[in-house]
Amino acid sequence: MKEQLFQEYYRNAPTAVNVPQIREQWLALAPPYDVDHWLLPLPVWGQRPYDHTGAEAWQTLRADLAVAPSDRPFCIYLHIPFCSSKCHFCDCYSFKLGGYRAEHIQNYVNRLCDELRLWSRQGNLSRRPVSTVHMGGGTPTFLGEAALAQIVGCCHAHFAITEDTEWALESTVESLTPGMIATMHRSGYRRLHLGVQSLEEPVRAAIGRRRPVAELLDRVEQTLALGWVVSVDLVCGLPGQTLAGFVAGIQTLAAVGVNGFSLYELLIYPQNQKWAESSGLARRSHVPNYFMFQAGASVLAGNGFGRSLFNHWADGRDQNIYFTFPTRGEDCLAVGTIADGVMGDYHYRHPRYAAYMRQCGPEQPGLQGGLRRTAVESALLPVRTAVLSGAIPQQLALALQSVPVNGQSLLHHWQQQRLIQPDAADGFVLTANGGWFAGNMVRQWQFLAEQANQMTDPARLC
Ligand SMILES: C[S@@+](CC[C@H](N)C(=O)[O-])C[C@H]1O[C@@H](n2cnc3c(N)ncnc32)[C@H](O)[C@@H]1O
Ligand code: SF4
Repeated sequence: MKEQLFQEYYRNAPTAVNVPQIREQWLALAPPYDVDHWLLPLPVWGQRPYDHTGAEAWQTLRADLAVAPSDRPFCIYLHIPFCSSKCHFCDCYSFKLGGYRAEHIQNYVNRLCDELRLWSRQGNLSRRPVSTVHMGGGTPTFLGEAALAQIVGCCHAHFAITEDTEWALESTVESLTPGMIATMHRSGYRRLHLGVQSLEEPVRAAIGRRRPVAELLDRVEQTLALGWVVSVDLVCGLPGQTLAGFVAGIQTLAAVGVNGFSLYELLIYPQNQKWAESSGLARRSHVPNYFMFQAGASVLAGNGFGRSLFNHWADGRDQNIYFTFPTRGEDCLAVGTIADGVMGDYHYRHPRYAAYMRQCGPEQPGLQGGLRRTAVESALLPVRTAVLSGAIPQQLALALQSVPVNGQSLLHHWQQQRLIQPDAADGFVLTANGGWFAGNMVRQWQFLAEQANQMTDPARLC
């Protein structure tokens, strides 16, 4: 059955896809690694309730920041929830503004600036090095040039932004006009995360992407010519997608010089369930999406891209995405609605838009809640960070060797399932299987570590 599914899917696979290698990985999978039981990697706050209310969390963070080391770098994440329209397939926290658009934008930007100012007054945060400022969403470029410039000015006014700070934003092609690119370049932006989703015209039509592919490629070339790092998002599992079209899309984007690729599987949540049903995707199998993901990984590896996150492939210029802040030992100052940040071992999160706008002000950031990692959660963290970043250093590999599963070590188990493979330099790296199953691997590690009752001495875990 497994073999048959495989042969059917890859019968006419483009030559750039390393079919024998994918077959080996597919056939190696055995329970609990089942493609239809894929798990999302969850942050600590997604696994248990908050320890503190928003107000308590803020008091705790203030006390922590008062004694935090002044040389510990951090990144800034700003969440912009607005878009010109809500795409039916989208599961992000984003929405279309109704009337009074300019006022809503201005009010939100003012809140962000209030919040940035407030954080900058805590401890030595205003003097600590800022590695990256990343604007995510939603569609940050939807704010328009003046509002974006206000946020940039606010960051400069309150934090130790240097020439080494990398400025990054997420955008659609629609709002990335030449004028926007020029303004953002003058403001210091040098990284773009472009939501491409697919280059196949029928797929683009099905998900409401109206801009022609030629325009998209033109914007990519413009930003590359300015020296930006350009990363694109592609989704596996969209309606009407074909393997040949998916692979051709990657090749086209690689040929114009794109530096990084994030590959997502289409997630179906209550917010896009109706659309999924009307597109015939509600009772889908994940297997074709896994096959497409595998093919993408294989083509990217063949084009010289390495992995810098479980679902992200990068060339030598694309090494500093904000998502990998834990691997760099940084904190994350997250600002804006639903943004979640980490300061030391304390995690916090903001509420949804209406509550954020009500609660955030010059005296408090209007948090939803916060929690401190327990000793056990902290002990589990290095393996989680390593798996999600795609590389397991030798020292952690040794720790995994002492965790038993089905009469073998977890390290061996993962190798046997072709989730990891030895790295040429040191330790292990995730395979494409590992990229797909990163969330399952983290969960399995957590479960086994708890089961083995190694929790009595968390230091033994890393
Ligand atoms: C925060 S969105 C911002 C991108 C930008 N607004 C755009 O649409 O081009 C980041 C990425 O999440 C991915 N995404 C959105 N909805 C998704 C879903 N239902 N399943 C998987 N990935 C999704 C898309 O690839 C998107 O580019
Ligand atoms: S895919 Fe992008 S543009 Fe579309 S609703 Fe989601 S965040 Fe907005």
